[in-house]
Amino acid sequence: MKIGTIGAGTVAAAFARQALTAGHQVVLSNSRGPASLQQFVTELGRGASAGTREEAAAAEMVLLAVPWPVVPRALDALPAWDGRILIDATNQFASLAPVVIDDLGDTTGSEFVAELAPGARVVKAFNTLFAEYIAVPRRAAGRVVLFHAGDDVAAKATVASLADRFGFAPLDVGGLRSGGRLMQLGGSLSAQHLLRPEPLERL
Ligand SMILES: NC(=O)c1ccc[n+]([C@@H]2O[C@H](COP(=O)([O-])OP(=O)(O)OC[C@H]3O[C@@H](n4cnc5c(N)ncnc54)[C@H](OP(=O)(O)O)[C@@H]3O)[C@@H](O)[C@H]2O)c1
Repeated sequence: MKIGTIGAGTVAAAFARQALTAGHQVVLSNSRGPASLQQFVTELGRGASAGTREEAAAAEMVLLAVPWPVVPRALDALPAWDGRILIDATNQFASLAPVVIDDLGDTTGSEFVAELAPGARVVKAFNTLFAEYIAVPRRAAGRVVLFHAGDDVAAKATVASLADRFGFAPLDVGGLRSGGRLMQLGGSLSAQHLLRPEPLERL
């Protein structure tokens, strides 16, 4: 599968390494253009390439991993989504220093993202984990549990299958409204790092 990333920082790098190891192609993008990512994609190795935001967004599956304040800009004027999957890994930090969490009222962060990407099948995933847990999903004590939420069952299943292949233990927590609320900043699953012991998988 060809996977695009909008954002090419800490989270996108950890995700891209997993995807490349699993045999996928990854097109990474940022705000500064492909030339700024040439050295990085060379380091990532076979299957990695640098693209424009539009090229990354045209992939079958797209990871959104940009700072919250630039989400509208990062999703602006992209090709029609036409049902392609958009994984929302963002957290609603309006500011990191001091820490300010964006208050969207009744709307969850991923519902906000979905409004900015009409036609995309949005799955919230990876945002609850610190990047070091995204980078190493399989641990001596078990697999890192990957919470995910979304309103499209098939899209969630595709993301879960990808995450399983990476070595995570995927766990569906509901739709963008109910599950997304649990997963976003302030929700009970935010920054929860759970391991599912490997023997359980053989039961
Ligand atoms: N770090 C973590 O442990 C962690 C874990 C889970 C979730 N998250 C969330 O994931 C998101 C990304 O975090 P991160 O730590 O990966 O951030 P990061 O290392 O700062 O990387 C952000 C990336 O976004 C790019 N970017 C900025 N503006 C853009 C735009 N308009 N269009 C396209 N790309 C743009 C940046 O590229 P430029 O160089 O061009 O600006 C950079 O490659 C955040 O919402 C964060 O809250 C972080």
